[in-house]
Amino acid sequence: MNILGIETSCDETAASVVRDDEILTNVVSSSVPLHRAYGGVIPEVASRCHIEYINRVTKKALSKSDKDIRDINLIAVTDAPGLPGSLVAGVAFAKALSYALKIPCVNVNHVHAHLYANFLDKKKREDKFPFIGVVVSGGHTNVYLCKNFKDPEIIGRTKDDAIGEAFDKVAKILGIGYPGGPHIERYASKFKGKPIKFPRAFLDKDSYDFSLSGVKTAVLYYVKSKKLDRREISRVAWSFQEAVFDVLIERVLKACTNFNIRKVFLGGGVVSNMRLRSKLIGACSQVNCEIYYPPPALCVDNAAMIAGLGGRLYNK
Ligand code: KG4
Ligand code: ZN
Repeated sequence: MNILGIETSCDETAASVVRDDEILTNVVSSSVPLHRAYGGVIPEVASRCHIEYINRVTKKALSKSDKDIRDINLIAVTDAPGLPGSLVAGVAFAKALSYALKIPCVNVNHVHAHLYANFLDKKKREDKFPFIGVVVSGGHTNVYLCKNFKDPEIIGRTKDDAIGEAFDKVAKILGIGYPGGPHIERYASKFKGKPIKFPRAFLDKDSYDFSLSGVKTAVLYYVKSKKLDRREISRVAWSFQEAVFDVLIERVLKACTNFNIRKVFLGGGVVSNMRLRSKLIGACSQVNCEIYYPPPALCVDNAAMIAGLGGRLYNK
């Protein structure tokens, strides 16, 4: 089955052609440069860009895959969660195509698709249920108990900011660019010395939830009291990153122990962070836990993950 995936939930307009979990093309066009001046996504600007880009992005995905639109058997589109105007642009486009071509269209949950990105990799294709799923992106920080692809059970989530959102806000406080995650990682990687002790919000001992507001405020007050040079920015970036990742890893290991599961699948933009990956690999190896994450291009928003999950859901 040739599946056309369409993704427009936030600021990336994406289209992809996937055949039996093999990615033929994965085209992404981002409106990030237009949001940079504001330090965050402006929903109306994002929706307008989707309307402008979607045709071009879809045509490129088809032509690079050597497929004609008539070779497509199924359309998969992100219908939730996301910015309403952005979602409407993609869903309207997908439904119109499906109606005109007389082929089915399936709706896909964007956050579940971030986990599915792991299954697009041929080597890891076989199902590994049950597993603990962790999605860490700009819009979501969710921990799941996954027994199937259709209804992953949510067992933890952030009570305030998503982790990626906190990275973006801290980068804004430090004045180092948007989106903040890659900038924080780059500054943190240069740090050597004594870190700052930022708070770690472990919350209730049985909880898998997160709270990022404390550490974010601590960064704000710390920065107000200091003269920010490159070294100090690196110190804050490293200390903030460690504080956030320590909590994330504690949640992951606790979920594995409590549910007696030794497989963890990660997804979402923050998972491109190499420090997070190496910390998790170290922590998981100590408790004999297998850990999986997608390649960086499939961690961030893309339509291949939507097409892949759409195909699975349709076949079920
Ligand atoms: O999954 P994604 O592309 O979009 C959403 O669904 O939100 O994630 C984007 C988020 C942004 O907040 C960005 O700052 C963060 O992922 N991010 C990172 C890194 N690369 C992207 N955070 C930490 N380290 C990174 N290397
Ligand atoms: Zn996403």
